[in-house]
Amino acid sequence: MSGHITGLDARMVLDSRGHPTVEVDCYVEGALLGRSIVPSGASTGAYEALELRDQDASRFGGKGVTRAVTHVKEHLEEALVGLPVDEQRLIDEVMIELDGTPNKSNLGANAMLGASMACLHAGAAYHELPLWKYVGGVAGGLMPVPMLNILNGGAHAASNVDVQEFMIMPHGFDTFQEGLRAGVETYHALKSELKKDGLLGGIGDEGGFAPNLPTNEDGLKYMVRAIEGAGYSTEEIGIALDVASTEFKHEDGYHMEGKVLSSSDMVDMYAGWLDAYPILSIEDGFGEDDWRGWAAFTKAHGHRVQTVGDDLFVTQSERLSQGIELGAANAMLVKLNQVGTVSETLEAMDLASTHGMNNVVSHRSGESEDVTIADFAVGTRAGQIKTGAPARSDRVAKYNQLLRIAEDVHEYRSPFA
Ligand code: PGA
Ligand code: ZN
Repeated sequence: MSGHITGLDARMVLDSRGHPTVEVDCYVEGALLGRSIVPSGASTGAYEALELRDQDASRFGGKGVTRAVTHVKEHLEEALVGLPVDEQRLIDEVMIELDGTPNKSNLGANAMLGASMACLHAGAAYHELPLWKYVGGVAGGLMPVPMLNILNGGAHAASNVDVQEFMIMPHGFDTFQEGLRAGVETYHALKSELKKDGLLGGIGDEGGFAPNLPTNEDGLKYMVRAIEGAGYSTEEIGIALDVASTEFKHEDGYHMEGKVLSSSDMVDMYAGWLDAYPILSIEDGFGEDDWRGWAAFTKAHGHRVQTVGDDLFVTQSERLSQGIELGAANAMLVKLNQVGTVSETLEAMDLASTHGMNNVVSHRSGESEDVTIADFAVGTRAGQIKTGAPARSDRVAKYNQLLRIAEDVHEYRSPFA
């Protein structure tokens, strides 16, 4: 027995950067049971599904979402009404077919994901289950180890730091609550360290501090100072980086600190960092088209560091399959809006884990009060989540939802043990 979708509604709301985004409501048997808000990236990969913006320069600098909202209210509602709300795959397939393009450029991945996630929430509510349990079924949940992005650079800050994200991973703790506490204390310790050095200024898009630094490596030094300053060891809390190197990859190489580096220079630089710092994970260390750089690095160092494909895989099974064939990475970043539906996200995650790869569920730099990814990470047993610094409500909302879930889900362990 299942409830049927009786209506969809949509509207423009604002994201954490003050840009328009899409909110979708899903009605089941006439009652509003599901709502979701779509996130938005800044350092978006070229292979991501298309985020439909109005491109009308006279409104919101061209970033309006009037067309995407209209697509939900007209086309998607008409297509989904009457479907059983708990048939997520069917719901997503109907939308994919209606869109009819490989990158969702017709209806817009923001319109489609909004509808997909609103239906997911409505399915959970209809069955009176918490979302994480609806997603996870009888497998039960696993609390993810958080990657807290406490120092922001790259496209998320106005600083001179090329590496986009310096994150800490409190993986050596018995519970999520203890891990999060250690991460939060380290965030505050970083603030003190930066203040001591006269480097405390604003924060970046994901709530981390955003100082100018002499070199990227100084970011690593601050991570260690913050971990130890908070009274923890680098065995308990490790470092994760998102280099987001596609952003500074040009025809002639990687432009970093005034130099132009080849892929093998990048491999050597990372190897040096791995020798000197407690780095557990490096995301997008190479550009989205630099398959050789990726494969060379993973082959040489994948035994001692997690290599995470974000722009490389864009949460899409096709790109991931190529990566698996080449041994490009040993983990996939999971962003629902890179592919545009819940089912395709689950399919890519399944492909990754089937091939022994880790999944890291992720927010976008443009977020909202929507906390779907917290439940999603627990229910899929991904084991890792990155959702920013423990600052600003758009980031903290996810950690707070995880704290609620942690009252029922106790399993928490290092993905690197
Ligand atoms: P984005 O950044 O949301 O701006 O793409 C996040 C990331 O690169 O992981
Ligand atoms: Zn990334």
